[in-house]
Amino acid sequence: MTAVPTSDAMRDRYAVIGNPVAHSKSPQIHAEFARQTGQDIVYEALFAPPDGFRDAVRAFRAAGGKGLNVTLPFKGEAWQAADRREGFAARAAAVNTLVFTQGLATGHNTDGLGLVRDLCDNLGCVLRGKRILLLGAGGASRGVIEPLLREAPRQLVIANRTLAKAVDLVGRFEALQPLAQEGVIAYPYAELAGRRFDLVINATSASLGNVLPPLPEGVFAPDALAYDMVYGADTPFLRFAREQGAAATDGIGMLVEQAAESFCIWRGVRPATAPVIALMKQARR
Ligand code: ATR
Repeated sequence: MTAVPTSDAMRDRYAVIGNPVAHSKSPQIHAEFARQTGQDIVYEALFAPPDGFRDAVRAFRAAGGKGLNVTLPFKGEAWQAADRREGFAARAAAVNTLVFTQGLATGHNTDGLGLVRDLCDNLGCVLRGKRILLLGAGGASRGVIEPLLREAPRQLVIANRTLAKAVDLVGRFEALQPLAQEGVIAYPYAELAGRRFDLVINATSASLGNVLPPLPEGVFAPDALAYDMVYGADTPFLRFAREQGAAATDGIGMLVEQAAESFCIWRGVRPATAPVIALMKQARR
């Protein structure tokens, strides 16, 4: 399918909003989706100052913008700003996708679905009955807890430097505790010594500072997978995991999968993700 080119002014407009945002791969990913599905859209990167999120969104909507992806540090603010929240966004208190229709802003969170799709469909993981360790208790972590629990793992442990934040998260998802056989538990890092997990997900921002979260040795069960939500870099977490005998992968697949879910919400058509993941991996070689 080929779209008939129109002027930018006539196309439906979308953007990723963040700070920083220049490095974002989302414009490239959505351009690929649009090309693949014959959707004639404009997708840009939109920078907002730390205290300028709402103003930037207002201006974007006033200019006819149809939807936004929201990235750091605005996912919590986007949740607050939304007129209503759908699906996983409700409990996560974090929104990564906004849809503007009939004067209303609807917030979604596609991060967790993106992670689960990458793990299960692309990487061949089975999460049912597995022990999952989630590192970090910020927005990135909140966004993925419900979709992970919906896969019925044996246990979900949330570890954080500031234990109170992990305990808060366990409380927030209390109603979903029965989805995991052994429940959702908050631990400080020191408590992880002697415990083993089938999947360890790094949802901290430590990798951005090239730092390893204070993980004790021996947390990876045989055949464990280490997943860093950060993409495009061989992080200290991934190196540590490999040294410990685990398989290790970055978050490029999650990025593409969450984008596909947003695209589907906006355009009602699901793009194929495999060729776009392959393209993104190729581009960084
Ligand atoms: P995000 O929205 O990306 O999750 P955030 O809300 O600022 O960002 O949360 C960052 C997370 O990374 C927090 O869980 C933070 O731990 P604290 O709550 O204890 O601050 C975690 N984090 C950041 N740097 C870290 C490091 N060097 N080691 C371990 N955890 C780290």
